[in-house]
Amino acid sequence: MKIFKTTKTTKEYLKNNKNETIGFVPTMGALHDGHLSLIKQSKEQNDITIVSIFVNPTQFLDGEDIDKYPHKPQADEKICEIAKVDVLFVPNEKKIYFDQETKLFAPSIKAYILEGYDRPGHFDGVLQVVNKLLNIVKPTFVYFGKKDAQQLYLVKNMVEEFFLDVSVVACETIREANGLAKSSRNTYLSKEDTLKALQISKALNIAIKYVQKGEYDAATIKTKISKQLKNLYIYYVEIVDKNFNYIDKIEINNTIVLVAVNINNTRLIDNIWL
Ligand code: PAJ
Repeated sequence: MKIFKTTKTTKEYLKNNKNETIGFVPTMGALHDGHLSLIKQSKEQNDITIVSIFVNPTQFLDGEDIDKYPHKPQADEKICEIAKVDVLFVPNEKKIYFDQETKLFAPSIKAYILEGYDRPGHFDGVLQVVNKLLNIVKPTFVYFGKKDAQQLYLVKNMVEEFFLDVSVVACETIREANGLAKSSRNTYLSKEDTLKALQISKALNIAIKYVQKGEYDAATIKTKISKQLKNLYIYYVEIVDKNFNYIDKIEINNTIVLVAVNINNTRLIDNIWL
């Protein structure tokens, strides 16, 4: 596995692999099975797989402690090696950002609801860095998890709107056996917190059951979910279509049910696609 720390070395290496398809998995590290499933999918579909690890400062708001974000460089490197990643790209901040640089603004409505409502400007930073990374790596396919559904939606749109030459692949959410969606942030949870966090996937499963029984009213489903989460601090329980418009009636194959809660100062998000 090649490990590159600069954009220059990465670009040079990729230039020499012109005829091969490149799969790219952008991450912020503290890798887990969710990231690994994206890597596996990339390995299956491409000649070369590149993983980036960069804890992107611009997607953290003032007051959100970026220094507390889990940092496990050695474990991450081992995981990538075992997964037979071809290139690990670990740039430092100065290699990615410039002083007084050109800024990218995420859409004014769809990036300011849900995650963007509580974290205004977060998606500006996400799109800024994803745009840069895509320009450095120039992959054939780039892999994103459905776990971060709004991020996936906004990236897909940016790729279309900026006429970027890459296909965005949406990957299923990977969960613990107990249903909890894998997340780098789960490491912050105590045993007690984890038990509380299990309510999230339970609540989403209850929603699935009601929909299967023919309950398509979004307000009713939201109430059922909120009831299940009654002991948690809820940021939102919302139901949108795949273009992130709020909807009143669930449409099969065109609905995402999203939940965000706070457990002991850890923000946890999850969703199901119906
Ligand atoms: P990070 O949180 O490290 O996630 C990297 C990718 O892994 C994202 O596409 C995310 O949706 C996916 N992922 C996380 N948990 C998952 C799970 N349980 N199942 C499936 N996929 C999962 O998302 C980011 O980093 C950053 O915002 C980034 C895109 C790298 C830009 O900085």
